[in-house]
Amino acid sequence: MRMGRVTSSDHELSPRRAARAEAERRATAALALPAVTAPEAPPRAASSNGPARSRREHREQQRGSRATSGPASWWRDRPLLVRRRLAVLALVMVVVVACGVAISAAVGGRQDQSAPGPAVAAAALAGPPAVPAEGLPVPVISEAPAPESPCDDPAVTSALASGDDGATIAAIGGGEAFRAAVASGIAPCVSLSDADREWVVVNKKRPYDPADYRPGDLVMPDGVRALEESALRRRAADALTSLVRGAADAGVGEIGYLSAFRSYQTQQTTYAGRVAVGGVEEADRESARAGFSEHQSGLAVDIVPCNRSCGTLDDVAGSSQGAWVRDHAWEYGFITRYDVGRIDVTGYEPEAWHLRYIGPELAKAYHDGGYTTLEEFFGLPAAPTY
Ligand code: DAL
Ligand code: ZN
Repeated sequence: MRMGRVTSSDHELSPRRAARAEAERRATAALALPAVTAPEAPPRAASSNGPARSRREHREQQRGSRATSGPASWWRDRPLLVRRRLAVLALVMVVVVACGVAISAAVGGRQDQSAPGPAVAAAALAGPPAVPAEGLPVPVISEAPAPESPCDDPAVTSALASGDDGATIAAIGGGEAFRAAVASGIAPCVSLSDADREWVVVNKKRPYDPADYRPGDLVMPDGVRALEESALRRRAADALTSLVRGAADAGVGEIGYLSAFRSYQTQQTTYAGRVAVGGVEEADRESARAGFSEHQSGLAVDIVPCNRSCGTLDDVAGSSQGAWVRDHAWEYGFITRYDVGRIDVTGYEPEAWHLRYIGPELAKAYHDGGYTTLEEFFGLPAAPTY
């Protein structure tokens, strides 16, 4: 019985260790280069010791015969434990390299499909390209041009300076263009407070300045029955003559008028009379205070129906003349200034008899636009009270 350290040779002699060593040898041989792969066992005929010779002897013989065969002989000269560890190490290295290749391929594929590469990222940091990429929407940044003011047009300013209202409206582009320009505020050279203009707006919030303003071209209209010696501004007077003739031609009867221009002093007397009859509140719904009446402009007229004799203001609404005026007054440059149901804006009860001249261009725009108050026509605030 031997004592002491057991050598690897001793283990190989046991059947179990010998079998395991053989399996390892086979695995190691599979990893070896084909050029150095040797047959598993030499032919028995080549053995010098006959069939009874041990495997160990056979392997040792092979080692000796292949001592000069290069890497294969080097491998075989390594101890079994070393070869096992080298084999495992090689296997681990193969797995690691394979995984690295697979991960690299996957990351590279994603970059190609969607993610910007380093060059793209560098370009993004460098700022927008000088030329937009084809096919991409290019935002157009443009500043909206300021609307042109008619007041910059010499034709408009010239017409304004000459005092020709019709020419001014025509220079701006007609009645609707004029209205739109004024209402939008792009025509500051046009003043709705200028009492000499046909577009002046007088109401309970917009008195004359000066308060005793008086127009300079008052005339009596031709061919119109006047119940009072009351004049109108020339253009309004001529327009009234045409209107009255138009009504007569239409067969609706004669139209006369009671009151046209009223001075500041006359309006004082008129208003005071209304207050005396019905009090201030009622008077303010029917009559303007001095300095606030359209009659002071010379552009307003109170008509009456006449059939041999003339009727009163209250007769207009139910008369054939009144019906015709409602439909056709705009054609002559007049509007019904205090329409039914608009006391919330004008501050006055409806007056079918009170016609206001604003000129044929503006009256057409007023009619076509369906307006019922001059305040709304020009975009002004309502003026129901003083
Ligand atoms: N009757 C109108 C409102 C005026 O007095 O002017
Ligand atoms: Zn009136």
